[in-house]
Amino acid sequence: MRNNKTDKLLPASPVKGLIPTLNNTGWMTESLDEVSQSFVAYAGSISTEVLDIGCAYGIATLAALDQGARVCASDMEPKHLDILCQRIPADARSRFRCVAGALPRIDFPKQCFGAIVASRVLHFLNGNDVEASVRKMHDWLTPGGRLFLIADSPYTGPWAAQSADYEQRKAAGEDWPAYFNNYADFLSPGTDASKHPTFINPMDPDILKRVCESSGFKTLEARFLSSATKWGTGRDHAGIVAEKI
Ligand SMILES: C[S@@+](CC[C@H](N)C(=O)[O-])C[C@H]1O[C@@H](n2cnc3c(N)ncnc32)[C@H](O)[C@@H]1O
Repeated sequence: MRNNKTDKLLPASPVKGLIPTLNNTGWMTESLDEVSQSFVAYAGSISTEVLDIGCAYGIATLAALDQGARVCASDMEPKHLDILCQRIPADARSRFRCVAGALPRIDFPKQCFGAIVASRVLHFLNGNDVEASVRKMHDWLTPGGRLFLIADSPYTGPWAAQSADYEQRKAAGEDWPAYFNNYADFLSPGTDASKHPTFINPMDPDILKRVCESSGFKTLEARFLSSATKWGTGRDHAGIVAEKI
């Protein structure tokens, strides 16, 4: 969602369609993948507040506000939230709030959100922390509330070179077959490894389904997704829409 006035607040980007984060957690996309689009439509259709966690500069938050939603935006990086706050249109300010904090430690009251989106956040967590985060999201949702998760898949990013390894580990039954704790090995020579995570935990739709269902969700839809950039291959991300039962 572009707004020429507030886009000037964003850091300069060398890559069209992607805005760099300020804390070495990759990029925010400038357009929404299909599961994020479903979140936006659903958020605009309910009166209960929704949560965008790992919001960065607010690609999903701004679109949901535009649809009339009430949105709580959250991110571990307060500087992202400072920029997002300045991007909120005046007529949406009364429907917006933001909270800084990191999964899995951040907490909200039980049953306070009608929907939650976490787009391209969970692959920065290890398996135990992903499971703990999704259990918390289940607590935070109202009964029947919807969860929209998007994670980077094993077929994108610098770790795509290891996708055959992921496929073997998945076939062998590993719970987290694309968890790699050697992120630095994926970087091209000369890249500063300190500007990247030390591990990455990309996911496929089966992993998201397992984690959500073991936390008390019913899966409505789980599939690979194309990134919203021009480089999309059709399976850049894994996405799930799940309902709290
Ligand atoms: C790759 S960006 C994705 C931004 C946006 N949601 C999107 O889909 O384009 C990851 C964002 O998640 C935030 N993040 C990473 N780990 C997090 C955590 N453990 N808790 C909360 N936010 C986190 C980062 O600060 C960053 O803003």
